[in-house]
Amino acid sequence: MITSGLIIAIIASFHILPSHLATGAFWFNVYIEREAVRKNRPELFEFLKKFTLLILIFSFVIGSITGVGIWYSATVASPRGISGLIHNYVWGWATEWVFFILEIATIYVYYYTLGRIDKESHLKIGLTYALAAWISMIIITGILAFMLTTGKWSETGGFFDGFFNETYWPQLFVRTSMMFGIAGLYAVIVASRMKNDEVGKEIIKKASIWGIAGMVFGAIFSLWYLQKLPENAKEMAFYGGLPYLKTLLYVAGTSYVVVLLYFVFFGLIRPRYAGVVSGIIMLIVLFVGIGAGEGFREGVRRPFVISQYMYGNQLIGRDIPAKGIKNEVERYQEEGFIKNIYWAGGLNLEEPKDRIKAGRILTLYVCGNCHSLEVNGIIRPLPVLLSRLDPESPDDIADFMDALGDYPYMPPFPGNDEDKALIGEFLFTLPKGGM
Ligand code: HEC
Repeated sequence: MITSGLIIAIIASFHILPSHLATGAFWFNVYIEREAVRKNRPELFEFLKKFTLLILIFSFVIGSITGVGIWYSATVASPRGISGLIHNYVWGWATEWVFFILEIATIYVYYYTLGRIDKESHLKIGLTYALAAWISMIIITGILAFMLTTGKWSETGGFFDGFFNETYWPQLFVRTSMMFGIAGLYAVIVASRMKNDEVGKEIIKKASIWGIAGMVFGAIFSLWYLQKLPENAKEMAFYGGLPYLKTLLYVAGTSYVVVLLYFVFFGLIRPRYAGVVSGIIMLIVLFVGIGAGEGFREGVRRPFVISQYMYGNQLIGRDIPAKGIKNEVERYQEEGFIKNIYWAGGLNLEEPKDRIKAGRILTLYVCGNCHSLEVNGIIRPLPVLLSRLDPESPDDIADFMDALGDYPYMPPFPGNDEDKALIGEFLFTLPKGGM
């Protein structure tokens, strides 16, 4: 019922809030601590302690568990996709992890030395954390952006050619802005729980200004990002290819506006009204918005898992001479797919029963990453979609395979006439389902 992609999406969504909190929050922390030290205002330390503890628990427990979860689920769902990324970016990840370890070490030191060592040194520890966390974002953004736009990498195979690609800078600016917005919201929640009401209100106002700046700049940079999308992505998103992508953008836009208004009215104008409950509701709204935004980013990448290089079904779709990589789709179209995979080795393609089995293997391999086979499957159930096309024979379905690559969101069919016949025979046996 549930496809592997959906499992990654759920885990990854739960990773976004803690991870962006971890990167953004300390800039605000350091800013407040600087006020406390330079203007000699010890009453601000109550906030620092509470806020750091929240980051420590929320980001470093939930963030770490879900982070590892993404690796596990992505490796199961897309082993070749992950392998492709690792082959190109293992040193990127290694560098990120160095900064990640620095983050983990400094946040503990920061928390346990708060108020115990000299103030300037403590401030430096905070700044080290903030920088290390942001640098880890600078690195991971390159790898994430590479999956959407591969830059000159497809010609040269070079690390930095792929890293600094068309959507790298817009994405880095969007994420950097958003991290301030998210940090501002958590800070409002923490400050609304402070014993000293006056200080609490003051911090709520400051956090709201950070939040507003983050949301406004985030929106501006998002427009830049949308402009930099590849043509195929724009066609799917804006010219009717996949209407749900536009809906995701509206959801993201609406939630950003709601959170922005919250900052303005409950943060800036009436800080007395800001509270834990309304803050958490806003967090949920923001969570939905970010989830929609990330869903959009994943959605416009179709039909690829790594843009212009590897399709969603993990087959390589182009030659990259610089890396000695050959187009697999073309190869299978010439040589045949089912003949080339070991799963189907024991099948006798003269036997009707074995032909259906072979067709099923083909479907799972070639379509399974994006479609479920059950009528009541959650993700694009094939029985339902095929019934809409109303095929009258297995041949009709086999012919449809020629059109697959004409859809902007589907890869071309990687097989020869025999494969098309096999998949047609199998798909024709699926129940006609729920229109
Ligand atoms: C990279 C992901 C991906 C792969 C791989 C893929 N599809 Fe699709 N397919 C989609 C998307 C996205 C849609 C649009 C669904 C929608 O409109 O909700 C779609 C739609 C369809 C439709 C409906 C077309 C229409 O005109 O309404 C059919 C039928 C279909 N796919 C069959 C297949 C078959 C068979 C395979 C394997 C040979 C396959 N797809 C492989 C992503 C994919």
